[in-house]
Amino acid sequence: MENKDIKRYTVTTALPYANGPVHIGHLAGVYVPADIYVRYLRANLRDVVFIGGSDEHGVPITIKARKEGVSPQDIVDKYHGIIKKSFEEFGISFDIYSRTSSPVHHQTASAFFKKLYDDDKFIVKTNEQYYDAENKMFLADRYIIGTCPHCGYEKAYGDQCESCGTSLNATDLINPKSAVSGNIPVMKETKHWYLPLDQYEPWLKKWIIEGHKNDWRPNVYGQCKSWIDSGLHPRAVTRDLDWGVKVPVEGAEGKVLYVWFDAPIGYISATKELTPDWEKYWKDKGSKLVHFIGKDNIVFHCIIFPAMLKAEGSYILPDNVPANEFLNLEGDKISTSRNWAVWLHEYLNDFPEKQDVLRYVLTANAPETKDNDFTWKDFQTRNNSELVGILGNFVNRALVLTQKYYHGIVPQRNELTNFDKTVLEEIKSFPQRISKALETYHFREALRELMNLARLGNKYLADTEPWKVVKTDEQRVMTIMNIALQIVGNIAVLGDVFLPFSMEKLRLMINQEKYSWDKAGDIDILIVGKQLNKPSLLFQQIEDKEVDYQVSKLMETKIKNELEAHPTKEAKENIQFDDFTKLDIRVGTIIEAEKVAKTKKLLKLMVDTGIDRRIVVSGIAEYYKPEDIIGKQVNILVNLAPKTLRGIESQGMILMAEDISGKLVFVEPSVQVKNGSEVK
Ligand code: 2FM
Ligand code: ZN
Repeated sequence: MENKDIKRYTVTTALPYANGPVHIGHLAGVYVPADIYVRYLRANLRDVVFIGGSDEHGVPITIKARKEGVSPQDIVDKYHGIIKKSFEEFGISFDIYSRTSSPVHHQTASAFFKKLYDDDKFIVKTNEQYYDAENKMFLADRYIIGTCPHCGYEKAYGDQCESCGTSLNATDLINPKSAVSGNIPVMKETKHWYLPLDQYEPWLKKWIIEGHKNDWRPNVYGQCKSWIDSGLHPRAVTRDLDWGVKVPVEGAEGKVLYVWFDAPIGYISATKELTPDWEKYWKDKGSKLVHFIGKDNIVFHCIIFPAMLKAEGSYILPDNVPANEFLNLEGDKISTSRNWAVWLHEYLNDFPEKQDVLRYVLTANAPETKDNDFTWKDFQTRNNSELVGILGNFVNRALVLTQKYYHGIVPQRNELTNFDKTVLEEIKSFPQRISKALETYHFREALRELMNLARLGNKYLADTEPWKVVKTDEQRVMTIMNIALQIVGNIAVLGDVFLPFSMEKLRLMINQEKYSWDKAGDIDILIVGKQLNKPSLLFQQIEDKEVDYQVSKLMETKIKNELEAHPTKEAKENIQFDDFTKLDIRVGTIIEAEKVAKTKKLLKLMVDTGIDRRIVVSGIAEYYKPEDIIGKQVNILVNLAPKTLRGIESQGMILMAEDISGKLVFVEPSVQVKNGSEVK
């Protein structure tokens, strides 16, 4: 849509499942860029609604409720509360944060389905689906687990493989099992309503493949194209479950709408809840609809939901779907089930009043074109060298010098040098560059430009050296400080969309109201004679100990996960003392070691047992290099019957323990002892 045709904006953010808190992956992928975009639109006085809410249906929620022995409503109430509060504290400026368990949503989703049903937009099919006979339930979506036919991941779900991201049908899974009981499922007949996506294929081709080749991100366009090119099929939009929006037609008892049918309608329901004028945001061609989502949601927002909207007939379609790739954490995929995440509510607790630091880091390192990694070291460096070192440092220098030289009153500009003129021209050019980047969803670039404005300020002060010139040319210093202050005033306007908390603080320091974007680029934004307030630091250094603590929390998680993956084996049956004394265990020293040819795992060791020198073949080559273990004292079972391995007679066994990663480690005496000492 051309800018001039746009009357208003409908900006939605993926509704997070209310079965866990939100983490930095959600923020970087969806909520931070959406919030920047909306703040930018508002700063430009555009009519916008910013929609969010919790996705409270779907199998992950009922599975969690079952596991915890509570009701699905208990689960969603708990997490909806946590999520909503943390978004508020983090400054995600939703106009409404609703939930799909609300009555408005149930009515809206139900009516949407009914309209498509009445208009004959569905097909009905009866077929056999997996059924857990013991628990008397159909195994929809995540109730069934098996091996992914594409990547071999053994815990793929019936609707999607979380390892390779492929969307699946339950019958695609190899070795399917019930997620509730672990039982092998049986097949049972059931009836469902399907949206015949195949009928929308020609239209989708024209709308996306021809129509959005140049304005949708390559990752989004590419995923849609490959879906459409591989052929679309009817997709079931109902499920045999009891948690969700009831299917509002006869013969559908015990069935609810598929969560991916009802959830995007949640955007519409939330708008309805927000304003009686909701229809203009969804039905007027002058409204621009933008969905902010993560890459795992692309097909639902670019193909399935648009097909639903098209089938209904009275709605506008998304103008853009700026989906991000994924953010990893310290080199590993973020995972709710493995607790490998930085949770927003915990961050807010550990770093109160540092919302902008996280907003900054997640934008500067946003996974816009490829997956990116969040590390605590990078978080600290970006804070200390960029927010403190560049932005905070410039603002502080300009404001402190103004206090020192002029008691905080904005001085006038006198004669301008060529350098001054160039800098003033440059100041004027920033809003347009930042706008262009934001309008085209290039948030990293937009933020980089903001920082370039601060860099310009630092360079201007460093080159003009007012602290030296003040001794000789007062008129010149007035000009320098005036220009530096115009940069500060502009940062306060342009920076507000990215760093709202710090810019509010800055506005207080410079006594500046919250201007609209019109004012950006004004080189008299701080008028001569204006009294500024006493400055304080905009950003604080983050110390090593603060990030070390965060890393140690993650390390604890890693160890816990590894322990869970390798649970301690149960004790074996009791034996008599006589049985034990049959074992002859001695301390010995490895005196030679070499790899056994043509094997990966075996080392041939020569061990001095104190009794003799003997050969032992040991399966530790994956973990140790021969040269590293010579001289090591070990425990060796010396009266184990010899065994020939790869043609070598092994006369005993070295006793080893397994660490949490599965590596075999030596069990050594705590001090050097004589070879041949008995272990008893
Ligand atoms: O992937 C998810 O977390 C989904 N709950 C997103 C839903 S987006 C929308 F359609 F509601
Ligand atoms: Zn897979």
